[in-house]
Amino acid sequence: MYEPDSVWEFDTADRLKFGTEAAAELPEAVINRDGESVLMLTDEGVEAAGILEHLIARFDGTGVDVSVFADVEPDPSVDVFEAAVDRVRAVDPDVVVGVGGGSTLDVTKTTSVLATADGDVLDYVAEPTGGGRPVPGPGLPAIGLPTTAGTGSETTPVSVISLPDRDMKVGISSRHQYLDLAVVDPELTVSLPPGPTATSGIDALSHAVEAYVTRQYDAKERPTTAADRPDYGGRTPLTDQLALTAVERIGGSLRQAVDNGQDLAARRDMALGSMTAGMAFGNAGLGATHALAMAIGAEYHLPHGATIAACLPAVMRYNAPGAADRFRDVAEALGIDTAGLDDRSAADRAVEAVTTLVEDVGLGSGLASLGVERSDAERLAEKSARLERLTVGNPRRVDVDDLETLVRESL
Ligand SMILES: [Fe+2]
Repeated sequence: MYEPDSVWEFDTADRLKFGTEAAAELPEAVINRDGESVLMLTDEGVEAAGILEHLIARFDGTGVDVSVFADVEPDPSVDVFEAAVDRVRAVDPDVVVGVGGGSTLDVTKTTSVLATADGDVLDYVAEPTGGGRPVPGPGLPAIGLPTTAGTGSETTPVSVISLPDRDMKVGISSRHQYLDLAVVDPELTVSLPPGPTATSGIDALSHAVEAYVTRQYDAKERPTTAADRPDYGGRTPLTDQLALTAVERIGGSLRQAVDNGQDLAARRDMALGSMTAGMAFGNAGLGATHALAMAIGAEYHLPHGATIAACLPAVMRYNAPGAADRFRDVAEALGIDTAGLDDRSAADRAVEAVTTLVEDVGLGSGLASLGVERSDAERLAEKSARLERLTVGNPRRVDVDDLETLVRESL
């Protein structure tokens, strides 16, 4: 007999530290974790912006030994993950610290758990691509400092690994991959150029919108044991609050953050919006926008946020009739006066507002401008349809034909 689930759970990083100058408290956080040595993981861009140098200088006089791995790349391949794991096993630090965007934080999380485990990265990726081994334990304490406001990786237990030879992205998801501490300091995002500010910001908006309209936790069957409950368990009263706050913050600040990176109030709202969106989607789940973006990004080796921006308006338009009351709330969080409108009309206003925002931050030119061909629509739809953990929560049922239509509409 079918029995709906009646319980929800909520997980995030063990501890969050938020605010301007929060990064100044990093050495104290390392020392509190009995850290006499740290390995800092980062990428070229963060190093070039001087952020790393500034953070390392804060350890002067503390006696903490600092090593650096600066070879993280965007949409990191399994080779990058392997190189970081080799490094951490060679250095053997007490604490790992990731400073960067979602790619760096993903590498940091996996590096921290594999530092004290054996085997290589692919052993811990789900079968059939990987070996399907469970992550055995918590590994080294891990601290993450995001330098973009977008992925929400600082609050989720997932790392995304590119397999460029196979045009695939795979993941490792484990409760042991939650950071011990996320330090979200909006000042670290000030030097991020307008392009990545826009793509990461629209990614964060899509996390908030998809988490808010995804199916509720009781729209799935009760699991046999609590351990069988999926990571993406459906929306809950708690994720709803976090997601709506995120829509409001991001909708109200993304244009300013793109137009003037020095606008600290806008950067603060984006950082808070991105973090709360991560907390929401990490528990509630996502939807068809992410299924499409994951499949298309892997195939064409495109940045995640760019594919999200291309697909989000069409997916919202498709979903609006399936969750009109939810999209009405999204419209209101975006500052639209919905008085006198029925739910369907209010939902349409949310779609229009997001479409305009995507255009205003320079991301309105669609998948074709990223090199996606119309003749690939069918194959991309088939690949997206296989990402069931993403499509299962979509508020309107999506089959492979619907996904193909959405690819064409996003061109
Ligand atoms: Fe995303």
